Amino acid sequence: MLLASAASLLIGASAHAAGLTVGFSQIGSESGWRAAETSVTKQQAEKRGVDLKFADAQQKQENQIKAIRGFIAQGVDAIFVAPVVATGWEAVLTEAKEANIPVFLLDRGIDGPEDLYTTMVASDQVLEGKVAGQWLVKEQAGKDCNVVELQGTTGSSPAINRKKGFEEAIAGTSSIKIIRSQTGDFTRAKGKEVMEGFLKAENGGKNICALYAHNDDMAVGAIQAIKEAGLKPGTDIKVVSIDAVPDIFKALAAGEANATVELTPNMAGPAFDALEKLKKDGTVPPKTIITESKLYTQADDPMKVYEEKKGLGY
Ligand code: AHR
Repeated sequence: MLLASAASLLIGASAHAAGLTVGFSQIGSESGWRAAETSVTKQQAEKRGVDLKFADAQQKQENQIKAIRGFIAQGVDAIFVAPVVATGWEAVLTEAKEANIPVFLLDRGIDGPEDLYTTMVASDQVLEGKVAGQWLVKEQAGKDCNVVELQGTTGSSPAINRKKGFEEAIAGTSSIKIIRSQTGDFTRAKGKEVMEGFLKAENGGKNICALYAHNDDMAVGAIQAIKEAGLKPGTDIKVVSIDAVPDIFKALAAGEANATVELTPNMAGPAFDALEKLKKDGTVPPKTIITESKLYTQADDPMKVYEEKKGLGY
């Protein structure tokens, strides 16, 4: 009986990715969401018996390119990469292709030929922006609204696509206008700093009706700036953002944020599933594996969601 259960354990392990070595070039730790994605990826690798080589690029594409070259030299079985910006990947990904190493893009896309990667696990980032914009259109119900926008990292696919989606959502509503838009680089500190500038430039914030932030961390920084300017975030200035990290649920519960669009930090799970199938019998995954984009508002029992999320590695 002992032998039988040991054998079944082994069979279970071999059905997973045990024995594979995967290099993961992560962007850095600019946001709570990013930290969660890193933890989930490490947990998923451990659970599946994958030897994960982790490289933190500290927000620099050149570090990612170096890390990918290192993974190629080590002859890893696959490379996972979360590309910090969309352009500039052709040379290094061609090298991976020539070395027959499949590349999996996690959470961000690239501008370049699709044959340079096996699959991309990501959200529909245009849809995320649209969901945020549609929420504001509904909330305003025809009332005028000047919006300030905190963009993500310049040149990154979420910054480009979330801007596009939001603009599409408000396009048919002449009462809603983006009056200022600047990058906050997806960080809390930059979100606060740029919001301070917006508030100063717009009559202490009196001309601003809503903030649209491409991620929750920038929104949390901006909420602080709004409070320091003597205004009430969530009431004087409505706040809508993307990610659904635990801290935004605290802000939703306190009435200081209004809506967020969820981005799952579990990009690695579907990527490992696809890699396992590819290695097992050559099953080629679809070019994109799209994750869900769910809207949360103050009506969704934010403290309950906070409690559920807070231990998940954010
Ligand atoms: O690419 C996903 C984005 O990157 C997240 O929305 C943001 O928080 C992160 O930095």
